[in-house]
Amino acid sequence: MKIQIRSGFYFLLPIASLIFFLLLIPPGCKNYNEVDLYPPCDTVNVTYSGDIQPIIFANCLPCHSVANKFGGVILAVLDSARIPARNGLLLKAVTHDPGVIPMPKGGGKLSDCDIAKIRRWIALDEPAK
Ligand code: HEC
Repeated sequence: MKIQIRSGFYFLLPIASLIFFLLLIPPGCKNYNEVDLYPPCDTVNVTYSGDIQPIIFANCLPCHSVANKFGGVILAVLDSARIPARNGLLLKAVTHDPGVIPMPKGGGKLSDCDIAKIRRWIALDEPAK
């Protein structure tokens, strides 16, 4: 029995579809690498103004500013932020320790990197200015 190939162009289909799918890949993808997508977490020189305050401003400010000190906790300035930092409440709140109310209240848990920076800053015990 003889198998007849009806059209001589069928063999082009896999090649054509391969080219089609290659065209779907955005050109930028080839430049992405692990370092771009996951910048390393730098916890070497953590300071309040450089690292902690931006985290506070982005996640805690509406409830822990000087004007809105929920729970009596002010995190927006170094001198006051040192209080929960030193008594342990700050780290417990952001690591969702069962003994305290998890923070940020009503929001998702902070990133591992943000928590690592807070942990490091507490360990450094930056003096009040
Ligand atoms: C939407 C408001 C809100 C946000 C945002 C928020 N908090 Fe709070 N926080 C509260 C309230 C309210 C309390 C007082 C306890 C309570 O009634 O829940 C509190 C209490 C605390 C306490 C004391 C915990 C205790 O058990 O006494 C710490 C520490 C704290 N917050 C840290 C943070 C940090 C750090 C962030 C940001 C990462 C944050 N909070 C974001 C509302 C908030």
